Amino acid sequence: MHDFKYRGRKLCCERLDLASIAERVGTPFYCYSQKSLLDHFNKLKRAFRSISPLICFSMKANSNLAVLKLLTRQGAGLDVVSGGELYKARRVGVPARRIVYASVGKTEAEIVYALKEDILLFNVESVPELELIQRLARRLKKRPRVSVRLNVEVDPRTHRYIATGVSTSKFGLDLKSARGLFLNSRHYVPAELVGVHIHIGSQITSGSPYAQALRRVASFVKDLKKRGVHIPWLNVGGGLGIIYHDERPQTAHAFARRVLPLLKTLPARLIMEPGRFIAGPSGVLVTRVTTVKKTPRKTFIIVDGGMSDLLRPSLYGAYHSIWPVRRSSNGPRVECDVVGPICESGDFLARDRKLALPGSGDLLSVLGAGAYGFVMASNYNSRPRPPEVLVNGSRMYVVRRRETYRDLVRGESIPAYLREAGSGKREA
Ligand SMILES: Cc1ncc(COP(=O)(O)O)c(C=O)c1O
Repeated sequence: MHDFKYRGRKLCCERLDLASIAERVGTPFYCYSQKSLLDHFNKLKRAFRSISPLICFSMKANSNLAVLKLLTRQGAGLDVVSGGELYKARRVGVPARRIVYASVGKTEAEIVYALKEDILLFNVESVPELELIQRLARRLKKRPRVSVRLNVEVDPRTHRYIATGVSTSKFGLDLKSARGLFLNSRHYVPAELVGVHIHIGSQITSGSPYAQALRRVASFVKDLKKRGVHIPWLNVGGGLGIIYHDERPQTAHAFARRVLPLLKTLPARLIMEPGRFIAGPSGVLVTRVTTVKKTPRKTFIIVDGGMSDLLRPSLYGAYHSIWPVRRSSNGPRVECDVVGPICESGDFLARDRKLALPGSGDLLSVLGAGAYGFVMASNYNSRPRPPEVLVNGSRMYVVRRRETYRDLVRGESIPAYLREAGSGKREA
């Protein structure tokens, strides 16, 4: 988060004071640092430079067009999980041959779209999905490239909602079935089975689950090679952890040092799908204190941003550091909950947190909100979604405007019979 730091008492994104952004766009808002986005992308690129992987930024973490454009201009590809993400990927002009597509539930329409775009790889999660791709590809006279997502049954030691490579997970194929697919790959023509894919989970802070997963993949690939099946692509997914609280995640370099020796033994080009590692530390959510409410048991800091803006604390009990946008002289720190205005007890940004007590109108910054932040925002409680701002040095760009009340009703309609006078009577 080194691109969000205090200059004097003011918390800044790069060289811009967050309070001055709040004056321009109101609160709550998301703010991203261009420098941090690029630095994190480049850290990974440098660490793996010896094998020049294709780094496909995982759009599910942050799919703002400006963020995508920034990264793809640097050579990133994109990892998509829906037709909507594919559409956004194409909108920023990334070449289709830098797009990989994973999802356990790709629909026919989505597959047809991706076939027509001729993306680099479908990450296939089941046999019926592969058969569907085959059928649609025949119809469209396409030859899609497929990588098979393996469930390597490794515990990534992370939150159970974001562990994806364990045996009870809905993701991927067990090694035995996957092996069968490769050995019978001619049954799936015109689809070409050219890759293996894993993604064992997210927010993984240690290298060992990766190393364990990669050892399993390596023996899988080598065994098939002995049987004459060559697999030219290896996609190791995303999952690199970041610091939200007191985690000590491996650095990109340490990660590379650990896995490169193994990767170099495999005759495959590497794909990576980082999301959180690049976007997480590169964004904050800035929110304004509405009220400070003291009850006999607790102190609540009620702010204008809530679970509809940043869902992670409510969804996963996730920890995000909260810093005042204007640092005051050292007042006492009080244990409190930072909560949103939404009608749910689960609507909180922090619980039992010791903070210098702010006053109404003060601004707070929720750190580590650049990934799985805005993308999970909703209109729950009919709240317009917040704007997104990109900072480059001392300049700011509104890369998504704040939604309006009018946006809330866009696309909704009232059937004519409900609009007719007296319709209530007829219905009764
Ligand atoms: C298949 C796949 N790839 C990549 C990612 C990105 O993970 P992260 O943001 O942890 O890097 C995910 C996240 O769920 C995923 O499911």
